[in-house]
Amino acid sequence: MDKLIIRGGRKLKGEVTISGAKNAALPIMAASLLASGYSTIQGVPRLRDIMTMGRLLAHIGAGFHYEEGKVVISTERLKMQEAPYDLVRTMRASILVLGPLLAKYGYARVSLPGGCAIGARPINLHLMGLERMGADVKLEGGYVVAKARRMRGASIYFDLPTVTGTENLMMAASLARGRTVIENAAREPEVKDCARALVAMGAKIEGAGGSIIEIEGVDDLRPLDYTIIPDRIEEGTFMTAAGITGGDITLKSCRLDHLDAVVMKLTEAGLVFENREGGVRVMGPGRPKSTNVTTLQYPGFPTDMQAQFMALMSVADGTSVIKETIFENRFMHVAELMRMGADIAVEGGIATVKGVGKLKGAPLMATDLRASASLVVAALAAKGETEVRRIYHLDRGYETMEEKLKKIGADIRRVKEG
Ligand code: EPZ
Repeated sequence: MDKLIIRGGRKLKGEVTISGAKNAALPIMAASLLASGYSTIQGVPRLRDIMTMGRLLAHIGAGFHYEEGKVVISTERLKMQEAPYDLVRTMRASILVLGPLLAKYGYARVSLPGGCAIGARPINLHLMGLERMGADVKLEGGYVVAKARRMRGASIYFDLPTVTGTENLMMAASLARGRTVIENAAREPEVKDCARALVAMGAKIEGAGGSIIEIEGVDDLRPLDYTIIPDRIEEGTFMTAAGITGGDITLKSCRLDHLDAVVMKLTEAGLVFENREGGVRVMGPGRPKSTNVTTLQYPGFPTDMQAQFMALMSVADGTSVIKETIFENRFMHVAELMRMGADIAVEGGIATVKGVGKLKGAPLMATDLRASASLVVAALAAKGETEVRRIYHLDRGYETMEEKLKKIGADIRRVKEG
């Protein structure tokens, strides 16, 4: 397992190109199962999760090829409609093949994802929606077994906006008979990108990006050729890196409009933003100012930015209160930040962060994707050397993060271990 060795104290300076959004690529790769033929998806980052989804598609008999940001998926010769436990347990987003396989083939057997480090993360809302659309859904031996000759349009209300739940049901409804309305749908940019890709395949979808989405089912869909949006969470992560090092970086091929809440909070923390052609310049302050954050569904402050923001607040001037409302256990980074000298008290879903003057480098253990990003951000400003182990977590969601950081002046290197 690889680790990163980081010597903190360098101000980041230079240009970073943001990669495509992992959480847009994953549902859109699954959507290719709704058509027969060759689909091409461009701007896809080379990430572990993308390759895991590729392995899953290959397992069911689809062709999968990745080269230089382009994914080609062929679906003429699918040999099964099953997603096995050993693949699904490594990536929960595998559940995204459930809706497309059921809609296209009338059958799907997908392993229940199981919990993960940040929470139980049930899929009851996904299954409720499929049942409302007439599917017969059973749980057998840790698997979801779903059957439906052809699903019918339905009115679906989500108790809470689920991102992959909204995507799964949009995909299922695209081939159903009649109209489906999803109320209290997730509004994330990745959901909207998934809808735009489905429309490019011939689906009839209105309202994606809002909380009410209407889908008029069609009889079949054509393969897609589509370019995904940039990764707003990678973008926000580099912003916090500029903030914590007092740096001055320019982010290229990014979408500032997908990060309003994050930019507002980082501005409160003292960062300065300047629009640039196709990107944004981000300048960090001498020392960040403390401010409070509550994570919410989009357009609120994203839970996927909570850990990185906490790293920034751990050296802020003042005390910040960070409330995590989406997942029940998304403070795994706290103990590791405290090993660096951070002063953080956690009570339920609330972390109180007393900013310290300087963090100190230490050997750290990554526990989940965004927690590992948080540790890297903290290490960039820490005194001395930090070692971040188990960075396969980081590789799930960041394309060669250490190369991008090195290019803008960070003292960081990857060491292969074992
Ligand atoms: C998506 O996960 C993202 N993953 C996550 O990103 C992100 O953190 C999350 O949305 C929230 O924004 C992908 O898009 C692949 P949810 P998802 O369903 O869809 C509860 C990352 O770092 N819920 O919106 O699994 C659930 O427990 C990853 O890239 C139910 O109760 O999240 C959670 O509390 C981590 N029943 C809340 O809803 C359901 O059926 C939001 O979950 C579904 C969800």
